[in-house]
Amino acid sequence: MSALCRMKLRRRAAAARRRMLCLWLLLLGLALVMLATSAFLNQDQDLHAADPSRRPIQRLPGPPELEVIVDSLDLALELGDDLAPLKSLQEDQLLFVLPSAQGSRTQPQRKRSYKMLLGGTFKDAATSGPARVRAGSLQREMEQASVQRHGFNEALSETISLHRRLPEARHPECFGEKYSELLPSASVIICFHEEPWSTLMRTVHSVLDTSPQQYLQEVLLVDDLSQSRHLKARLGSYVSGLKGVRLIRSTRRLGVGGCRTMAAAKAKAEVLVFMDSHCECQEGWLEPLLERVAQDRSRVVSPIMDVIDWQTLQYNVTKWPVRGVFDWRLDFYWELNPQLQDYHPEEAVLPLQSPALGGGVLAADRNFFQSVGAYDPGMVLWGAEQIELSIRVWSCGGSMEVVPCSRVAHLSPHHRPYIFPDQDMLRRNKIRVADTWMDAYRKIYYRRDTLAHFIKQSESPNIAERLRLKRSLGCRNFHWFLSTVFPQLYVPQDKPALSGELYNVGTGSCADYPRGERQQGGVMNVAPCSGTGSQHCDFNSDGEVRWGSGGSLCMDAKGNRVVLSLCSAHQHTNRGLKWKFVKLSGQLVHQQTQMCVEAVQQQSTAGGNKPSAGGLYLKQCTRHPRQQWHFEQIVAPKGN
Ligand SMILES: *[C@@H]1O[C@H](CO)[C@@H](O)[C@H](O)[C@H]1NC(C)=O
Repeated sequence: MSALCRMKLRRRAAAARRRMLCLWLLLLGLALVMLATSAFLNQDQDLHAADPSRRPIQRLPGPPELEVIVDSLDLALELGDDLAPLKSLQEDQLLFVLPSAQGSRTQPQRKRSYKMLLGGTFKDAATSGPARVRAGSLQREMEQASVQRHGFNEALSETISLHRRLPEARHPECFGEKYSELLPSASVIICFHEEPWSTLMRTVHSVLDTSPQQYLQEVLLVDDLSQSRHLKARLGSYVSGLKGVRLIRSTRRLGVGGCRTMAAAKAKAEVLVFMDSHCECQEGWLEPLLERVAQDRSRVVSPIMDVIDWQTLQYNVTKWPVRGVFDWRLDFYWELNPQLQDYHPEEAVLPLQSPALGGGVLAADRNFFQSVGAYDPGMVLWGAEQIELSIRVWSCGGSMEVVPCSRVAHLSPHHRPYIFPDQDMLRRNKIRVADTWMDAYRKIYYRRDTLAHFIKQSESPNIAERLRLKRSLGCRNFHWFLSTVFPQLYVPQDKPALSGELYNVGTGSCADYPRGERQQGGVMNVAPCSGTGSQHCDFNSDGEVRWGSGGSLCMDAKGNRVVLSLCSAHQHTNRGLKWKFVKLSGQLVHQQTQMCVEAVQQQSTAGGNKPSAGGLYLKQCTRHPRQQWHFEQIVAPKGN
């Protein structure tokens, strides 16, 4: 009895009235014992335990006017034979659907201040002090706290209109583009997990405000098991006032791929548009995407992803051309101003084929998306699922492109407070990509991420289902993908004894380089050997020593310092990039100057706090051990 009392107490903030309330609740509890059914108690337990393996909750705590439908059987019914990947959705992923049609069909309350709706946001935040006060220093303090908590300036975001318009950024020629009168309809699918109110609702309103009604069939808001209070009843009641918006709640954490796959099965329109829950659409963003998909149903397309600054929330325009790529550590990134042979600047409004697309915004024909295998259900949380989808779409008969007359801005948090999967989880997703799609090329990944290699060896992930899919779709191999779709990616040779960590005998450490966001290279140094694959390099038959996760950095010399520079910058005059490795002596000789690479450990000065920092220098060749190098492969070339 007192346990129930305490449990109830926790929900109430007024500590002063604790004892009074306790008495009250004791009485109430006695009444409950007599009246309540065991079903009630079961539900109460479920709500607190939140154990996903339990039977699904039959009711959500929410305002009574929201009808909650346990939407389970029709999911199974909707899955035809052609929707094989969806069959893996288990019973315990059953859903709750809050259809807006059931609620009052009032117009969205545009005039209503959303601060009112936010009420509790700061109460459970790590900030102290009343949320109402917006005076300068307190505001700044709150902004800092909210950056810490959310990974972006949520306190500032809260003060910005949910209906703000982005400044025009489209190429002038886009205004002359004519789109078909009969574009297919779109279901915009927005999965979220613990998304702050302002960014989530600005995403929704921005879709509603910028999409022509005749094309936007519905917005599916999918709650991937959030716990935040503002995403419970308040969200349900707000959404019930928005026309064309449906809220679906998952009772189990699905992750990005799982959540999108599940929502795709519920979507009604011809074209699916997946959108992250912190986006803002530029006017006219939808039509160009629909047009490209309508012209070729196997096309998967993305707008240009502009950037919303996480600190200032300002709109940063991304310069065209841009395309999505990934490297040998299977990290995705947008490549700005790619050096492409087939790109003509005068074709500023023509879509550009892209080896991969990010997950921020993605449009695909619903049937094509299903037939090509939706998202890999074996992937957890998020990470690498966009690479898996990209390789699969291309290899199994589809294509991908960025459509420049469509623009959507995306807020990339500075860090991911809620949903950052730990690195091993991310590796498990990457292992699935490598083993399913990369054939023998997967070795190149494992050598650059040796921890993934060891995880894979100890866990041997089950990818049988995906391999069957790959076979049944008759997908092409990774060699085809590399040579046809992504010829710009350097393919390392990774020869034994000529690749791996570059170990220096004299210092007992390994050659290393500073890593920046852009991987532009810099001065080389020596550091303790990491064993993780992060120091992997590849001495190839062109005499280049290639570094970086894309192999795009070349060992180079600047004066007597050994540096890394972009190999592509030297494409026509690469004399300076040629090296010779003398296996017997372990000497690494710069061809142009005939000098040897020597590791120099920094003399520890008084108070120097970087004892392991040093540098690589070109010196007259000697037999000194500091000029002796070995390439050490951690992941053997043969076997698994
Ligand atoms: C946006 O642009 C500003 C000004 O150019 C820059 O300082 C800022 O770093 C940019 N933000 C992002 C997230 O790229």
